[in-house]
Amino acid sequence: MSRKIWYQGEIKKYEDVKVTLLTHTLQYGSGIFEGIRAYKTDDGTAIFRLKDHIERFFNSAKILRINLGFTVDELIDATVKVVKENGFESCYIRPFAFHESDGIGVKPKTDDIRVAIIAVPFGKYLGDKSVNGIRAKISSWKRINSDVLSVQAKATGNYLNSVLASSEAMDGGYDEAILTSHSGYLAEGPGENIMLVKNGRLITPGIESDILLGITRYSIIDLSESLGIPVTERHVHKDELFTADEVFFCGTAAEITPVVNVDNIEIGNGRVGPITSKLMHEYADVTAGRNKKFNKWLTYVK
Ligand SMILES: Cc1ncc(COP(=O)(O)O)c(C=O)c1O
Repeated sequence: MSRKIWYQGEIKKYEDVKVTLLTHTLQYGSGIFEGIRAYKTDDGTAIFRLKDHIERFFNSAKILRINLGFTVDELIDATVKVVKENGFESCYIRPFAFHESDGIGVKPKTDDIRVAIIAVPFGKYLGDKSVNGIRAKISSWKRINSDVLSVQAKATGNYLNSVLASSEAMDGGYDEAILTSHSGYLAEGPGENIMLVKNGRLITPGIESDILLGITRYSIIDLSESLGIPVTERHVHKDELFTADEVFFCGTAAEITPVVNVDNIEIGNGRVGPITSKLMHEYADVTAGRNKKFNKWLTYVK
């Protein structure tokens, strides 16, 4: 069965939508995107924090002076429709917008925006070993900052920074990169936020460290507080990584991925720690609709 996508207000077959090779976005990275997951629950498929993701998509558009031509509600409905049309029990959903017209000039046109929403089957972002913890490398690449590019816009061009860091780490035999900010503090992974556990408390960098304010990060902060685990947002020195009791990445794609080794130094005892493990289970319960308190974060696909 061919994949169904939403494109400019209509459901189409994936292979039926074509773009010209010289699109501005392909040449200059001027597109924006979101990454959302839908999960299997006892009451059918549910999309996690859909409204928050679509609102962030609009914020990205605003920063890039993009007029999407649709409302938040229209794109929420469109996302639900794509998941339903494809019959996925669980999947990853990628809404994106791009400048379609060709041309060589750097300044994009304002009347050529196209919006697409595509859903794909998706498992563990960092592979099966992510369950037992991955090995990370502190990148030689610094995280972009808002003097250079907008950190809070999920713009396609921003991700070249992530591509450089991930490629360096993976080519060096690690599973993922950790980027520091321009001022040297811990920032985040190429597509994930980072959290440390020290003495029973979660510690995570804040917006001053040039991080994308991830929706999963906020979810974990709320979840942890509801479990009585205190959370501190502050500058984190990269040395604190090595002496942390536990470290994990969090993000839509990565969910909660334990980090058990950084730059060949074991974190804690080199195994997934109890707080990370607890949060992994609790987060799985939330996304699967088993935690009634956080059911407000789920949009059911009926
Ligand atoms: C650079 C970066 N940081 C953090 C995240 C995590 O954000 P979220 O939890 O909203 O997926 C992402 C993924 O979107 C990302 O690309």
